Amino acid sequence: MSQHYAPPATPSVTIRPAEMSDVSETWVRWLNDPKVTQYSKQRLKTHTLDSQSAFLSQRLLDESRVVYLAFLYGTHIGTGEILYIRNSDEGACAEVSYMIGERCCWGKGIGRQLVNLLCKEAFKNKNIRKVQAGAHRENIGSHKVLLSNGFKISKERNSDTYFILDREDFI
Ligand SMILES: CC(C)(COP(=O)(O)OP(=O)(O)OC[C@H]1O[C@@H](n2cnc3c(N)ncnc32)[C@H](O)[C@@H]1OP(=O)(O)O)[C@@H](O)C(=O)NCCC(=O)NCCS
Repeated sequence: MSQHYAPPATPSVTIRPAEMSDVSETWVRWLNDPKVTQYSKQRLKTHTLDSQSAFLSQRLLDESRVVYLAFLYGTHIGTGEILYIRNSDEGACAEVSYMIGERCCWGKGIGRQLVNLLCKEAFKNKNIRKVQAGAHRENIGSHKVLLSNGFKISKERNSDTYFILDREDFI
């Protein structure tokens, strides 16, 4: 069992897989918020309900990915995604990505809990030995969220830092 991580009792974040009916003006607003997307390639596009519907319908057809909605006490505040990679150099592994779109929710331990829930989901699949994640090297909040969940830095390339979490360091 990991000795360095104890998930916070509060706040109460929950996740569930996204459905087409979840595409909303709120989700689109987050994607068009330059502060939310400052470390993401999403900042290079203008997002609309149509573009987000196209994105989600493509994701729902992709069996290697699951898109999640994150809720805080029932209010949609962010999203996450798990990509299952079956034949990587690391063996079967998963990659998590996440976004808390409501900026008023930042800095309250919600990101840490969201990543914890995504990793729990990924590790429910017994074949998954590792979970990986990448973050812009200046995205300190994201680095801290990953490190506090037991991730370790695996490499740095260009402007990004890559992290890896072994199953043994999480469960
Ligand atoms: C990055 C993100 C997930 C962080 O979530 P969060 O809920 O704000 O983070 P938490 O409250 O769980 O904070 C975890 C730690 O990071 C710190 N932190 C959070 N944001 C920070 C920031 N901008 N600068 C420095 N530290 C920050 C917190 O103080 C906390 O530190 P501690 O462990 O010393 O207490 C969130 O800001 C977000 O979704 N941003 C937009 C999208 C994004 O960047 N996604 C990640 C892409 S890799």
